[in-house]
Amino acid sequence: MRAAIVTEKATPARLGSFAEPQPGPGERLIHVLAGSIGPTDLMRANGFFGPMPYPYIPGGEGVGRLDSGERVYFGHSVSPFGALAERTIVPQAEIWPLPDDIDDGLAIALGISGTGALLPLEEAHIQPGESVLVLGATGALGQIGLQLARLLGAGRVTGAARNAAALARLTAHGTAEATVQLGTGDDLAALKAEAGPGYNVVLDCIYGPPAEAAIRATAPGARIMSIGIQAGPTVTLSLRDLVFRSHIGVGTGQRPAAERRAAFERLLAYGQSERIKVDITSYGLNEAETAWTAQAQSPHAKVIIRP
Ligand SMILES: NC(=O)c1ccc[n+]([C@@H]2O[C@H](COP(=O)([O-])OP(=O)(O)OC[C@H]3O[C@@H](n4cnc5c(N)ncnc54)[C@H](OP(=O)(O)O)[C@@H]3O)[C@@H](O)[C@H]2O)c1
Repeated sequence: MRAAIVTEKATPARLGSFAEPQPGPGERLIHVLAGSIGPTDLMRANGFFGPMPYPYIPGGEGVGRLDSGERVYFGHSVSPFGALAERTIVPQAEIWPLPDDIDDGLAIALGISGTGALLPLEEAHIQPGESVLVLGATGALGQIGLQLARLLGAGRVTGAARNAAALARLTAHGTAEATVQLGTGDDLAALKAEAGPGYNVVLDCIYGPPAEAAIRATAPGARIMSIGIQAGPTVTLSLRDLVFRSHIGVGTGQRPAAERRAAFERLLAYGQSERIKVDITSYGLNEAETAWTAQAQSPHAKVIIRP
């Protein structure tokens, strides 16, 4: 079958031919309608999570049809198969029903990115009217996080990232009330200028120096939820920066399938009633390498690939 294949460490996925998947006990064959790549797929290909079984098909999630014709969302495929292919095999627990009125792109965006935004925001227990800052706001997780923060009761919602045009789209679409451009000089001063008396909750998709600055711009009692490391794997803080604050490292992708599925179903309800919007960029399988490069260069959208 046709698939996008990673053949060696730290190289992009490229179109090729791969063996047909044969489902084993507890697994189902999926006819893929759309698969996606995200930052975690690139980290995996680069060996961040350990050795990979090269050659393999990347793509940790997608939308497809079962042999019965039923359209479903699917998560982690059985290695070495993945979502960037005509077909894949997926454990039954990672296959979740989809309503007809959620399109493929939004369904995928509400999976890894959506649950990655919802769970930390729920666990931050946003109080009505609190101020929420999203670091990495122009990405898929950040765009959803801004909208969810408001649905969960936040008052002022501020988005921060580097790209000025992508930040401008957030305010133009009403996704964020205010934005902060990072990386232009003094991130702390820029974040404080929009912080009022201090951010109460930070959804941090990037960590590193911008997270240090953001923590210093929070109010006492703030909850800082860090879920990604796009801007660096470490922060250096004094106790004074942290006192009366909670800084929590959040993992969502590693949680049991039942917990992720329940979060996905809460998001589908928001997606249907509140029409959560996420920018989607679509490619064909023959454009897999282009899509991979786009993801590496910060696409400001959920990247999906249609076989
Ligand atoms: N732990 C988990 O279970 C889990 C689950 C889901 C996601 N995640 C992580 O969450 C993060 C966000 O995911 P995503 O899908 O939204 O990724 P994405 O679409 O690639 O977005 C990344 C965001 O970070 C910004 N950014 C990238 N590098 C930056 C830098 N050096 N300084 C400042 N901002 C930077 C980008 O915007 P600009 O280019 O405008 O700066 C963009 O807003 C990823 O790290 C992902 O691995 C973790």
